Amino acid sequence: MSAKNIEPSSVDFTNIVKRYRSKHGAVTAVEGFTLSVRPGELVSFLGPSGCGKTTTLRMIAGFEEITEGELLISGQRMNDIEPHRRPISMVFQSYALFPHLSVRDNVAFGLKLRKESGQKIRSLVDTAMETMNIGQYADRAPHELSGGQQQRVALARAIVTEPRVLLFDEPLSNLDAKLRVKMRTEIRRIQQDLGITAIFVTHDQEEAMSISDRIVVMRAGKIEQVGTPEDIYEEPVNQFVADFIGSSNLFDVRHPRLSSGGGGAVVRLFGQDVSVPIAGSRWEEGAAGKALLRPERVRVHSEGAEVGGQITAPGRVTRYQYFGDHTRLECETAEGAVKARLYGQSRHWKVGEGCLIAFEPQDIRLIKAS
Ligand SMILES: Nc1ncnc2c1ncn2[C@@H]1O[C@H](COP(=O)(O)OP(=O)(O)OP(=O)(O)O)[C@@H](O)[C@H]1O
Ligand SMILES: [Mg+2]
Repeated sequence: MSAKNIEPSSVDFTNIVKRYRSKHGAVTAVEGFTLSVRPGELVSFLGPSGCGKTTTLRMIAGFEEITEGELLISGQRMNDIEPHRRPISMVFQSYALFPHLSVRDNVAFGLKLRKESGQKIRSLVDTAMETMNIGQYADRAPHELSGGQQQRVALARAIVTEPRVLLFDEPLSNLDAKLRVKMRTEIRRIQQDLGITAIFVTHDQEEAMSISDRIVVMRAGKIEQVGTPEDIYEEPVNQFVADFIGSSNLFDVRHPRLSSGGGGAVVRLFGQDVSVPIAGSRWEEGAAGKALLRPERVRVHSEGAEVGGQITAPGRVTRYQYFGDHTRLECETAEGAVKARLYGQSRHWKVGEGCLIAFEPQDIRLIKAS
């Protein structure tokens, strides 16, 4: 159970394809999936329902056959290895505990299958239960535990066999909001303490941002972008990623063009030509573009205010919401509705009030439309 017992493993996907065949025809659930997960890394698969997250995870576990491509764990080909021979453990949303077994026996299950000695099993199970803080429930049945406690048992059962890779399929979605936050922090702590490689499936962007070394954003079976939470938020490669992660203002820009010096682009916004950076250099001349402006980059001033050095536009407040630590405004402008998040400003705004929105050109990103 200690870090020294587990050798962190890499997981490499090369051009993985999964096609399901049924009497209704073939469904391509995953296509051209290529990714290298580094030893000890926590990578999240993030994307809308049906984009292929669970399917990809189940191919790593061996619960689904890989139609095409190659899967390596620590450089060893896994495609044809039986699930129970793969060095992985999986934690499910439904916990999947054995209802008729005590907590202790649930945690011990995998070790008993392996025919470990009684003494070794006792010691490993005790350590795993201690790590997960469930020692006091050892003799209870799963139905005598809360959802959060059951998920801890599932985690203890997953780590007790000292897998090289931990797989999580939306493990927190049955828990209430507060407990989710607590458990995700704990999962991250344990993953780092053990130094174990982990792949975490979620459709909750905040969850992915808070625990991941890198995030894989998926759409319709394909990878849209791989990057650190900062990369994905600050430099989304297209409208889909920008929209999926965080809140965004996306302006239609007609005929953006590369700026003469290169490196940036010129877009027409609020009746002005504005030089802006291109996110991740993914936009190419001639392609449809969108100008991305995150709401926290928008300033809102009183109507008629004099603001120098920024792009400004008059507007009218159409929504005002107070969240304590920040305020959310929506203003109607010549470019449509503009969302703003104002931190550390206490001014109350009335709906219908005139205002002036302002932003810096370098806070805009030109991204690929759609
Ligand atoms: N056994 C199956 N037979 C046929 N199609 C399937 C099967 N399992 C999944 N699919 C299809 O494959 C696609 C990907 O499904 P998958 O379960 O991987 O999505 P997901 O990203 O995990 O979604 P969710 O967030 O809803 O859990 C979907 O279009 C789904 O309908
Ligand atoms: Mg799923």
